Amino acid sequence: MKFLMVCLGNICRSPIAEGVMNEKLRQRSLNGRADSAGVLSYHSGENPDSRAVKVAAQYQVDIKNQIARQFRRSDFNEFDYILTMDRSVHAEILQMAQTDTERSKVHLFLEFAGASEITEVPDPYYGGPEGFDMVFKLIDEGCNRILARLEK
Ligand code: 4NP
Repeated sequence: MKFLMVCLGNICRSPIAEGVMNEKLRQRSLNGRADSAGVLSYHSGENPDSRAVKVAAQYQVDIKNQIARQFRRSDFNEFDYILTMDRSVHAEILQMAQTDTERSKVHLFLEFAGASEITEVPDPYYGGPEGFDMVFKLIDEGCNRILARLEK
C-alpha cells in the first residue's frame, strides 16, 4: 500500500497526513508507506509549517524533518492511492492524469475514508492554531477509516 497525500503547499495538511499514516502503518505492523506532495512548487525544499509540526508533536507524530516537494507525473506510477485534501487540489491532480488507470488512483481523502459530512480538509494556512488542531483530527480519523477499509 503506497499512499501519496496531496495538498496545495505541502507544508501543512499533507505533511500531517503523511506523518499520521506512516505512524499508523508502523503501529499496526502493516506493509506500506506514505509520502506527500503539493500542487504548488512555491514551498519546495522547506520543512513543514511550524504550526503543523507543533500540532503533530502534540499527538506524538514527528513531521519536522519532512521536505516539501511538488507533485510530479511519475507519482501516478509510483503510488497506489493518491489522496487529495480538498476539491481544488483534486481537480488539479485529475487534470494531470492521462489514463483511466491514473485517474482511478486519485481520491478525495475524506471521501475515500467514507466520511459523510465533511469531505474536505480545510486549508489552515491563513488561520490560527485551532485550525491546525481540527485538521489533525480530521486527518487522524480519516487515516483510521482508510486503514480499516483497506484491511477488510
Ligand atoms: P497546505 O497549506 O496546502 O495545507 O500546505 C498551504 C500552504 C501554503 C500555501 C497555501 C496553502 N500558500 O499559498 O503558500
